[in-house]
Amino acid sequence: MPEVDLRSAARASNRFFGAAVQIEQLRNDSLFRRTVINQCDSLTPELALKWEVIEPAQGAFNFAPMDELADFARDNGKRLYGHTLLWYRSIPAWARTPINTPRGWDMIHRGFAETMPRYNDIVDYWDVVNEPLDSTQDDGLRRSPFYEAFGPDYIRHALNSARHLAPQGKLLINDYGVEYSGPDEHARRKALLALIDKLRQQRVPLDGVGIQSHLDLHRGPIDQQSLATFLKELADRGLLILITELDVREVDITMPLALRDQKVAEGARAFLDVALAQPAVRGVTTWGLSDRYSWINVDADTGRVHTGRNRGLPFDVDMKPKPFCYSAVEAFRNGSPAPPRSNHKS
Ligand code: XIL
Repeated sequence: MPEVDLRSAARASNRFFGAAVQIEQLRNDSLFRRTVINQCDSLTPELALKWEVIEPAQGAFNFAPMDELADFARDNGKRLYGHTLLWYRSIPAWARTPINTPRGWDMIHRGFAETMPRYNDIVDYWDVVNEPLDSTQDDGLRRSPFYEAFGPDYIRHALNSARHLAPQGKLLINDYGVEYSGPDEHARRKALLALIDKLRQQRVPLDGVGIQSHLDLHRGPIDQQSLATFLKELADRGLLILITELDVREVDITMPLALRDQKVAEGARAFLDVALAQPAVRGVTTWGLSDRYSWINVDADTGRVHTGRNRGLPFDVDMKPKPFCYSAVEAFRNGSPAPPRSNHKS
């Protein structure tokens, strides 16, 4: 197969390509490190920025992994993607009770204040609130500990705090379950648009939306038309769109490898063709770069790792580019470019 270069393909369309990584992978695995350096302009900390990691005990901040990743990015001319400040699944154990007290918001604000200025030089985009949606609720919002403690306005407070601490940063809400077009996704899209409209009305600083994009071949092909319409609805609201966590869950891992890889590539391509036809989409990040390290291959319950079991990322366990790579390059090439980079930071 010819050399593949996702960075250049993304750059040619005024976008960035990135991947979620853990610093230990970069530190200990030279082949992986080289592949990341060659292919990515942006790195997302898979874990290092999450609240339970940065503040494992109250006031005892642990920025070591994030600092090391930031230094790696600075040394290698990369940018970091700020994932994520508020996520209901990464609240440190110590914070779960005090979050419900009148001083609860101070704890959150303190975490933001310690974190954002420390990385403002290297982070352009911040996932300020991760996964706030629940379309089964009347107001479309997940009853997270944040919601329970502060009510629906926690999202507004978080974005306002973030704007204060990162005046130049692009501030985002990041969520999943809006890629396909079943009834659930339809309801989630509606909930997201309603949330955006409400925040806009309240003049809350929101620059964009992250679409996680954990694709699943069980779900069949993407409804391209309806996805395009949804992305346009976001773009028409003046928002940037980031593809933040792309990977592909396979449907049948007993098929021959070549066929499996082709199906993954086709699934990714059908999605990326729509995403990259939309100029408001400024970058694509995959959740991992190689099947050697994919959260899909970690059993959520036992923590057991099945390396390479699911082949849903651009590079295989041997760091060889798979058809996913080439289909992503093609999708960048065929899409509509984003506005020139002088008009936006990436
Ligand atoms: C995941 C990581 O990949 C796992 O290693 C960790 O155990 C849990 O979090 N949506 C997100 C990401 O926004 O932060 C999640 O990352 C995957 C789902």
